[in-house]
Parts: sequence; C-alpha cells; structure tokens
Amino acid sequence: MSSSPRSSEGLRLSTLAVRAGQPRQDAFDAVTTPIACTATYAFSSSAELRDHFEGRVQRDEYGRYGNPTVRAAEQKLAALEWPSSSTTGAVLFGSGMAAITTALFALLKKGDHVVLPGEGYRRTRAFVTQVLARFGVECTVVPAGDAEALARAIEPRTRVILTESPTNPYLRVVDLPALVELKRRHPRVKLIIDATFATPVNMRPLELGADLVVHSCTKYLGGHNDLLAGVVCGDEALVSLIRDARDVIGGVLDPHAAYLLLRGLKTLPLRVERQNTTALGIARWLETQPGVERVYYPGLASHPDHDVAKRLLSGSGGVVSFVLRADLDTTARALDACRLAAIAPSLGGVETLIEQVALMSYYGLSKEERAALGIADGLVRLSVGLEDPTDIRDDLARVLEVVRRAASGADGARETKEVRTLS
Ligand SMILES: Cc1ncc(COP(=O)(O)O)c(C=O)c1O
Repeated sequence: MSSSPRSSEGLRLSTLAVRAGQPRQDAFDAVTTPIACTATYAFSSSAELRDHFEGRVQRDEYGRYGNPTVRAAEQKLAALEWPSSSTTGAVLFGSGMAAITTALFALLKKGDHVVLPGEGYRRTRAFVTQVLARFGVECTVVPAGDAEALARAIEPRTRVILTESPTNPYLRVVDLPALVELKRRHPRVKLIIDATFATPVNMRPLELGADLVVHSCTKYLGGHNDLLAGVVCGDEALVSLIRDARDVIGGVLDPHAAYLLLRGLKTLPLRVERQNTTALGIARWLETQPGVERVYYPGLASHPDHDVAKRLLSGSGGVVSFVLRADLDTTARALDACRLAAIAPSLGGVETLIEQVALMSYYGLSKEERAALGIADGLVRLSVGLEDPTDIRDDLARVLEVVRRAASGADGARETKEVRTLS
C-alpha cells in the first residue's frame, strides 16, 4: 500500500509520526506524553548526584540540559528524519533561528569559511554575513542554482555549506546528490540542509548524504501556527556537539511548546500530503490566469528545478510563489481582498497565509536592494492550509479581480474596501 521508508522495527512514516518517541508512559498511564513542567530535578541523595556526574546514572539534572517532553519530541523528529537509522539524533531549540545559529556557533571558529547560496531566509543570511563575520568567520554567497559557482567557492578553510531546499521564496530545489558528491572531495566540509519547506514527508536529506538537517518547526512540523521551535538532526556524534552548545547558549524549547510540537507531528504526513495536492492544483490554476506573470512551484514543468524536484521530492510542498502583473501598491491592495488567507509571515500551518514578499520578508529594503535580490514588487508567497482547495482558489480569484480592475483602469481601491467588510 505504501512505499514509505521503514524504521528498524518495520514501521512506516505515518506510524512513526504518531508513535515514535512515545513509549508507554509510567506517569498516570497516559496515552499521550505528559508535559514535564519543571525547571530542575531533585536528587534523592548526594550519592545519586555523584552517580549522575560520574556517568553511572543517566537522568535529568537541570531544565537547560534536558526535559522529558522535549526529549520525546526529539526522538520523534529523529525517527521521522531517517526512519531506518539507529544513530540519528535530534536537538530542539526555542526557534528555527536558535537552531541555525547554535549549530553554526558549534561548528565554526575564527578563520573558517562558509558557502551560502544567495537565496534563502533573510535572517540566516544576515547571521552568517553580519554576525559570524564579527567572529572572524568569512562567507561566500553564491547565486542560487549555480552549482559551478558553488564548487568554485569552496576553499581549504571552508567548513560549512548551508543551503535551504526548497528555498525561500522561489522554491529552488538543490541537487543534493551532486552536492554530496562535491562534499566527498572536501571531507572537512559539513553539508547542512535547511529542509523547512520540504519536511521529512517530502525529502529526507540525511538519507541522501547530508550531514545535518535543520527545520524551523514553527512551520510544517508544528503545523498549527501556534508555536516557535527549531531542530537540528544528524548523526548523534555530531548532534551532541550542537546539544552541548545549546546547553551553554541556552536557546532551549519550553516543554509546553514541545507538547504542541509532539501533537502537531502526529498529523504531519496527513497534512503535508494534502498541502502538496492543494498547492499543485492552485499552482496549475494560477498559471492559467492572465493577471499572473509567473508561477514558481517545483511541481510545475515551468520551474527551473522541476527535474531535480521530480528526482528528490515526493511532493512539492504547500508553498506557491507567484508574480502578479501589478506594481507594489496594486499588489498590496490585491492581497487586502483576501477573505480567507491571512496576511501574515510564516508558512506551513493549517491556516492559509499570504504575503507580499517585498512588504513582509523584505520590508525596509529599497526597490533597488530588493531588485538586486531578485524580489519583484508583485511577488506573492502563498502557504496553503487545510481549508477546502476551492475556497482557497476563490480567495485568490478575489486577488486577481483587483489586479484585473487595476489593469483596466477601474477603481480597485474602493472595491477592495467593500469586499473586506464582508469578512
Ligand atoms: C527556511 C527557514 N529557515 C529558518 C527560519 C527561521 O525559523 P524561526 O522563525 O522558527 O526562527 C525560517 C523562518 O521563516 C525559514 O523560512
């Protein structure tokens, strides 16, 4: 029935999403994982304390070093990221940025060099090019999708290649096997994939040879727009270095958020499969609309990485980016016509979210700065939720109607106000 990968016990991804990291609980015979809401843990005696510090007893000591609810979520995430591996570990953080920054602090030192493709989350790029630069770590930014430039950028002092796949916002899909091959020629380089947009349902980079996978769990993994979290997964030997750095830097996940994450993860395969299908349908429909200049979705033959996506992704994800035939202000007014999609940053949740990239993720940049980064004024990023696909499409039709009226000289501004009052 299912070609899903299997764990060493023969369990498939949907089963792992519900059950992994969730052994039978002693506490209250609860079926679900209890929230261990404690900042610290009591020792029954000084002898037990000594046993703990001298490694004879494995137990919790203090909240920044570990929490049972957080650990259960880490175990589930490790199982999902590489079901058949017994050495994969996961370490959770209070946000995706805490995961990325702590991993890089753990792996890099003064004099090291990072290669970073130019397209991706703006704050990740800012951290590498501005913050790490202050600590003597240099970076080469290469154009997205330019494999040759990436290979040329690797130097003897390069220690990390960090790339998203698919990327934000044009959904470029990295040819991961080619990158892994490149990395083989540079054994000191660690390949880190931010697979937030893919999720383990659509792609599992560790199975393909990446060293570490990062997710903003705030997005699909939590899946309900109600928590912030981040995770780094990889071989436990490497992950433990990052866990040690987390214990010092302190960007830990709160157990309440870990509980929400555990709950969200149980429906991850269901949600992502539905979002894949809805997004593909919407992307195909948008391509037929006169008000749309270009659609970016890896599942479409028109996407520059369609062939790579077909090889590496089992679904193209729930985000569709498209450029409206409209200027900055008309695009803004057009999005105001949405009654269902919320104008909000973030993605991957059950609610459909929409953003004009120039006014959200890239707010504060001049038109010229945005153009240099390839961010068009009419670029829209849509994260499809779990609403009925026809209702989402009808909402986008309202957006396109504003674009049509603006193009024909009708007053889109007044109409937008009228539509909005209906919501
Ligand atoms: C691809 C990607 N990685 C990392 C992050 C940062 O995650 P968080 O917002 O959870 O810190 C984001 C946030 O939008 C993102 O889109």
